[in-house]
Amino acid sequence: MKEDKIKPYAVVTGASKGLGKCFALELAKRKINTILVALPDEGIGKVAEVCIEAGSESVCYETDLTRVDNIIALGKWINEKYPVNILINNAGTGGTAGFSESKIEYVNNLIQINITATTLLTHQLLPNLLQQDEAYILNVSSIASFSPMANKAVYAASKNFINIFTSGLREELKKTRVFVTAVYPGPMKTNKSITDRIKKQGLLGKIGLLTPEKVAEESIRGLFQKKHRIVIGVPNKISRMLLIHVPSWLRLPILSKAVKRENQLKVE
Ligand SMILES: NC(=O)c1ccc[n+]([C@@H]2O[C@H](COP(=O)([O-])OP(=O)(O)OC[C@H]3O[C@@H](n4cnc5c(N)ncnc54)[C@H](OP(=O)(O)O)[C@@H]3O)[C@@H](O)[C@H]2O)c1
Repeated sequence: MKEDKIKPYAVVTGASKGLGKCFALELAKRKINTILVALPDEGIGKVAEVCIEAGSESVCYETDLTRVDNIIALGKWINEKYPVNILINNAGTGGTAGFSESKIEYVNNLIQINITATTLLTHQLLPNLLQQDEAYILNVSSIASFSPMANKAVYAASKNFINIFTSGLREELKKTRVFVTAVYPGPMKTNKSITDRIKKQGLLGKIGLLTPEKVAEESIRGLFQKKHRIVIGVPNKISRMLLIHVPSWLRLPILSKAVKRENQLKVE
């Protein structure tokens, strides 16, 4: 008799709030089982409950992704228990701060979550993804990844890493059934600190502003269409073109001035 195969799971990092929570709910709406990852005591259990109510299975794993040993333990736990056909590397952190004024802990944290956690978790889960009939990796980048800018020097660079990593891995896996995609959100009012920063940016903050619900929905659609890059909405598509094609002598001062407004208290 043929054994029933366990329905595979989608892993979402940073799923307790913001865009990650919207990814979890969007997957649940599509009856896709989820493994939700977030920091301890941030209410990830409540998100899982909503996913279960929507008719999918959902399990939680609380950990701090800034630690490599935690990432290895998470990968091991998942690989021993669950088949995984979707990995969404969403957990990320940003902020606006002059590099010389930033604490070393802030800079290190940003690099660990945005770069190290994304890369190492993908590395740990890839053998699992390769075993599935078809599998998808979605890396959350940012429109800010397309240009360097003052006061977000490390953030923009960290997201640019995601772009290059995504494209290289996609090419490497092109003969497999694992598809790698990056999404480049523009501004989203996901929490108070980000909302305050978006307000301070003035017009620039309003260009391409979308709800995280819309970004999650469009991203999952694009992911299943096996897109390489997902840029949502015409304003963000135009921003991307401008960030790529406007010469840097003109682009960098304009962008950096707008970003500096976010940081008025600290920089001016
Ligand atoms: N909001 C925007 O305007 C914007 C624009 C472009 C790109 N993005 C990108 O979109 C993604 C989601 O951003 P968001 O706005 O939704 O941010 P958010 O509301 O701050 O959510 C970030 C998520 O990452 C998790 N996280 C942070 N540090 C972690 C750690 N050390 N270990 C485990 N999880 C950790 C958080 O978990 P806890 O809840 O447990 O803390 C939270 O669920 C990020 O990659 C961000 O760079 C955001």
